[in-house]
Amino acid sequence: MVRGMTEARTRITKAVIPAAGLGTRFLPATKATPKEMLPVVDKPAIQYVVEEARAANLSDVLMITGRNKRALEDHFDRNYELEEALTRKGDESRLARVRESSDLATMHYVRQGDPKGLGHAVLCAEPHVGDQSFAVLLGDDLIDPRDPLLSRMIDIQEQFGGSVIALMEVDPAQIHLYGCAAIVPTAEADVVRVTDLVEKPAAGEAPSSYAIIGRYVLDPAVFDAIKKTPPGRGGEIQLTDALREMSHRDDDGGPVHGVVFTGRRYDTGDRGDYLRAIVRLACEREDLGPDFRTWLRSYVTEEMQD
Ligand code: G1P
Repeated sequence: MVRGMTEARTRITKAVIPAAGLGTRFLPATKATPKEMLPVVDKPAIQYVVEEARAANLSDVLMITGRNKRALEDHFDRNYELEEALTRKGDESRLARVRESSDLATMHYVRQGDPKGLGHAVLCAEPHVGDQSFAVLLGDDLIDPRDPLLSRMIDIQEQFGGSVIALMEVDPAQIHLYGCAAIVPTAEADVVRVTDLVEKPAAGEAPSSYAIIGRYVLDPAVFDAIKKTPPGRGGEIQLTDALREMSHRDDDGGPVHGVVFTGRRYDTGDRGDYLRAIVRLACEREDLGPDFRTWLRSYVTEEMQD
């Protein structure tokens, strides 16, 4: 029996969230605050990601952090002083909001030390994850909770074994910003077999316009693959390079399948996209949306007259 079929009986429970990046694109905001703590409307970006893991029944979350990231641990911990103050005021709704983040999942933290790339960050999870399949969620990509991508990926991994990555078709002019997959179709409309991968291909060298968006369901064989992966793009140990090697295997971590996502994804990794994500999510909020949309409409009308 192939490895994937044996594993199909153990539903995965662990999520790994790399959060050791320096966030240089958001300086000076990120000088003393982790970029993952920047608010998207009124919640830090990282909370959306932990909520997504939880919604896919992953209740054990390991965050790979680094220096300057203590605020992340505090955010997912209790804050008794604040809770006490809100209890005294009888402010139940704010109290519930404060408790939301500490009740989400069992949180664990490990420090990456030297930021040597995404592959290296994932390798830091090995002692915690052990020999079970696990999910990796990158904080720069927010997936709308109404489009449950991760659960679909977990189902596909149970069905096909090996590893599964999330793919999204992007404008070919943007593909150099992503890991890019060469693919062949499968019998399932939204599932492809990945035959090759290139991390951030130069213009004209991309095998397709299918970009890796930051969700992965990985076989633990990825750890050995990462250990054998030499530094790649930017001199860093790239997860894409380890998965490329696994995509050529039929077992031991392979094959690699892709779930093609056509839902709503918000990129918070660059400033323009971050602002767009906030506007879109604020418009959709039941509490803030109606007023905000009214204001936005008149603002846009004014702008168009200038
Ligand atoms: C990382 C991965 C890349 C992937 C991207 C998705 O790159 O290396 O393959 O396409 O995340 O957001 P980063 O954006 O961290 O440079």
